[in-house]
Amino acid sequence: MSQNRSQNQTPDSLVGKTALVTGASRGIGRAIALALGKRGAHVAVHYNAAGDAAIEVAGLIQREGGHAWTLQADLSQADGAATLARELRRTLLERNGVDGLDILVNNAGVGLRALLADVTPQDFDRVLQVNLKSPFFLIQQTLPFLRGNGRIINISSMGTRAAYPEMSVYAPAKAGLEALSLLLAQQLGERGITVNAVLPGATSTDLNPRARDPELSRVIAKSVALGRVGQPEDIADIVAFLASDQGRWITGQRIDATGGQRL
Ligand SMILES: NC(=O)c1ccc[n+]([C@@H]2O[C@H](COP(=O)([O-])OP(=O)(O)OC[C@H]3O[C@@H](n4cnc5c(N)ncnc54)[C@H](OP(=O)(O)O)[C@@H]3O)[C@@H](O)[C@H]2O)c1
Repeated sequence: MSQNRSQNQTPDSLVGKTALVTGASRGIGRAIALALGKRGAHVAVHYNAAGDAAIEVAGLIQREGGHAWTLQADLSQADGAATLARELRRTLLERNGVDGLDILVNNAGVGLRALLADVTPQDFDRVLQVNLKSPFFLIQQTLPFLRGNGRIINISSMGTRAAYPEMSVYAPAKAGLEALSLLLAQQLGERGITVNAVLPGATSTDLNPRARDPELSRVIAKSVALGRVGQPEDIADIVAFLASDQGRWITGQRIDATGGQRL
């Protein structure tokens, strides 16, 4: 793999590392892919439907002198995670001659605003599949080629620490992801692999149109200590820190990434 001298010198350098970011076509995942690529990682930019957007993200990384490629998989399908892991391994080998993965970011997610009384079994299955079951099996399928001192970073939500009744399925799914992060941190510590959950608050993306709306975002901002809603880059910088050598001593943690929302 090519090494860029200036990237090598920064303490947050990811030169020589490979990464998969799920849901990297838009929103927070896009910002994470760009942040990892900027620091020198070779980034697999995963998407489901937004192929053009994913190609644009990979192109932006390449234009900055980085390395990136796209991978498609529908994580609402039972075999989505296995398909993605297989394609990732194949393309890593093809591109780098070795199939080792260093950084897995489980970011892809779907939202659902519904009170318990209004949730259908189909809604429940879809939210659990994308937000918990697919990350679970993606970790299972990538662990055989996740290198020592690797990173697993699971994107959760502050909805697991503050009560939002309309997150009746979404928050329990994210809570499951956090529980998984904790036990895996214990299990994988002997390989030097860290596992953490990052909990964004209201962040301006397609998934949270209220945080995008100028008026509603001002209302939300009143509940945030730092006085504004989050931007995808706010979350991406935290993930990049955890992914770097600087984050080597943090594992099994739920890291609040909210600017102090509902403290
Ligand atoms: N925004 C917030 O306020 C907020 C707050 C807390 C936590 N989060 C969490 O942050 C993560 C990113 O959210 P975001 O706000 O950036 O969302 P977003 O802008 O809606 O982007 C969602 C990403 O997930 C991918 N995705 C959705 N369904 C998929 C499926 N069935 N299979 C594979 N990929 C799928 C999308 O891919 P395509 O574009 O290709 O369809 C897209 O790249 C999620 O886990 C979310 O729960 C967000």
